[in-house]
Amino acid sequence: MDKVRVGVIGVGGHGRGRHLIPYTKLPNVEVVAVADVNQRRAEEVGKEFKVRYYTDYMEMIERENPDAVSIVTPTGLHAKVAKDVLSKGVHVLVDKPLGANLSEVIDVVRTAKAKGKVLMVGYWSRFSPALKFGAEAMSLGMVGEPYLAYGYLVRRRGIPGSPTFIDKQLSGGRGALLDIGCYILDNLLSLLNFPRPVTVSGATYTKFGRNPEEVKFNWGSWDPSKFELEDYAVGFIRFENGASMIIEVGWAANVSHVGEVGIYRVLGNKGGLEGRGHEAVTEMTLHSRTSNFLYDTKPVLGNVDMSLEMVRAFIDSITQGKEPPTTGYQSVIIHSIIDTIYESASKGSEVRVTIPEI
Ligand SMILES: NC(=O)c1ccc[n+]([C@@H]2O[C@H](COP(=O)([O-])OP(=O)(O)OC[C@H]3O[C@@H](n4cnc5c(N)ncnc54)[C@H](O)[C@@H]3O)[C@@H](O)[C@H]2O)c1
Repeated sequence: MDKVRVGVIGVGGHGRGRHLIPYTKLPNVEVVAVADVNQRRAEEVGKEFKVRYYTDYMEMIERENPDAVSIVTPTGLHAKVAKDVLSKGVHVLVDKPLGANLSEVIDVVRTAKAKGKVLMVGYWSRFSPALKFGAEAMSLGMVGEPYLAYGYLVRRRGIPGSPTFIDKQLSGGRGALLDIGCYILDNLLSLLNFPRPVTVSGATYTKFGRNPEEVKFNWGSWDPSKFELEDYAVGFIRFENGASMIIEVGWAANVSHVGEVGIYRVLGNKGGLEGRGHEAVTEMTLHSRTSNFLYDTKPVLGNVDMSLEMVRAFIDSITQGKEPPTTGYQSVIIHSIIDTIYESASKGSEVRVTIPEI
């Protein structure tokens, strides 16, 4: 294959910024077209990048016959669009999260497997150098046996008010836990090598989204009387290998920090990792000891364009026939936990996780 011919479906903020622009920087990629239901947006972006534009993504697939597409529509549409496109034999990079729930995710993973096409999930945060330092420390045995992971990703006020994120259909009917909780899970699970979860206990809360006085402090605007999603969630997860994990995620909370703060921790018997950042880990420190001293190690990190590395990894897995770094199976683990937190929250008790064979 000379150049990989790529289309982008959904060219809003993220589709344009984190997919389209990075693709144009890869010499072995030709962006052939974009599709967006919003005619004005499709035309604007199509003209800006000098590519053909469509309002119907299936028409784009039929007419342009691309090798691969990025799907960057609102979350509630990810799985349907991915299935439609994979069924036509096209490789797919779906932005996070892969679907609104576990059954959608399994459906997409099975379709990709049946069609023998690359399915990658767009966790750009996975390409963080700080996270990679953590993974390397883990694989070199510097952390020893990990037994507890902790993740916190909370905004003081950051309910995303646009329909993409809070309309029940477009968002997949789920709030902060799905939208940004998936980043915590992906970051931490990648350090732990995606162990199988066995039980989950969780709680979800809606304390800000329905309060009209809160709208002005958050992002965009929405109708509080129609807000039906959780704005905070907490979960406790036990894994098959004996390790456990605590996560806390919020679009809004009365906390001290301004903006979004991410804290990531893995405790092992030889060392511990502590990361700071937001959706992506930007700093990571290894805490350990010699015979006589406790010490901290902080790597010197270069700047990396994480979105560029994400699309590069997608294209490499197509051209080199290798598994992408963020796989559909990993999303099965992520979504089995997210779904079980919602189930536990509604039942008010711990719930056993069931993961069907793929
Ligand atoms: N904005 C971010 O910082 C960010 C970060 C990470 C991930 N994401 C993910 O990216 C996705 C999109 O987010 P965004 O911020 O770009 O939203 P957005 O609202 O700016 O863009 C979504 C675009 O999809 C289009 N669209 C809707 N239905 C479509 C369809 N059937 N076919 C083609 N196009 C369709 C919309 O018209 C819109 O232009 C979400 O799933 C979100 O979770 C966003």
